Amino acid sequence: MSETILTEIDNGVGIITLNRADRHNAFDDALIQDLSTALVRMDTDSDVRVVVLSSTGKSFCAGADLNWMKRAAAYNAEETQRDALGLAGMLRMLNDMKKPTVARVQGPAYGGGVGLVAACDIAIAAFDAQFALTEVKLGIIPAVISPYVIAAIGERKARRYMLTAERFSAAEAYRIGLVHEIVPGEAELDEAVGEIVDALLANGPVALGECKALIKAVANRPITPDVMIDTAQRIARLRASAEGKEGMAAFLEKRKPSWVQKQ
Ligand code: COA
Repeated sequence: MSETILTEIDNGVGIITLNRADRHNAFDDALIQDLSTALVRMDTDSDVRVVVLSSTGKSFCAGADLNWMKRAAAYNAEETQRDALGLAGMLRMLNDMKKPTVARVQGPAYGGGVGLVAACDIAIAAFDAQFALTEVKLGIIPAVISPYVIAAIGERKARRYMLTAERFSAAEAYRIGLVHEIVPGEAELDEAVGEIVDALLANGPVALGECKALIKAVANRPITPDVMIDTAQRIARLRASAEGKEGMAAFLEKRKPSWVQKQ
């Protein structure tokens, strides 16, 4: 049996590839488990500084495997909740990665595939990418992906696309903020992902993790005295850190910081 997930670590970049092209990379319990394991491994491996989520074949991801969903419909209440929590846990893991994550999107990304894109920090899509929140067409709802999708595109756009289940283009995904960049084809997709990865690798690895935590702590919160104190404590901690000292010293000494690899 082929592996559902391929992983590779190359010069600080951890590449996770969904490898179920014959099922359009739809995820069943085995793929969810393997993807969860790969995410933990990448987040804890000190050789990995950036994680790219990609997939084989013509589709990025056709969402949940409908055969698995159909099987799961026969489970008892406890089993079905445990099953759904597996998917919820994997998405949360992806969303909460300490390392920056980049989605490389080609072809259709439907249902949970949109969830994967939304849970990554940065998403780049080819012009042929297509998106849809098809769940209601199937008589179900985009439940576990909803926090990530709504955070990415906002409640107003979620109301339209979750309720109509319409397919939308890469250009529309760009317009509504689901993806950050669109490029003509697969060659340009690799180039654009490479440029983002290079930008991330130029930055302090600890700072990137702390920056992700900062965004999560302040997003959608009023600027209260507590938030001001929290943000002040965060910058005070980072500027006194070894990485902060090195980064500022490197700038003032007109040299590259230690985390930038020599070519
Ligand atoms: N779960 C299980 N099987 C799936 C699947 C899914 N989410 N998506 C595709 N497949 C299977 C098809 O059933 C088909 O199986 P078969 O060869 O045994 O008939 C095979 O993958 C090829 O799919 P097909 O529809 O023939 O390919 P296509 O290129 O015409 O279309 C998609 C590809 C992804 C656009 C289309 O399959 C699709 O819309 N899938 C449903 C996606 C969806 O709504 N996901 C949300 C689930 S919550």
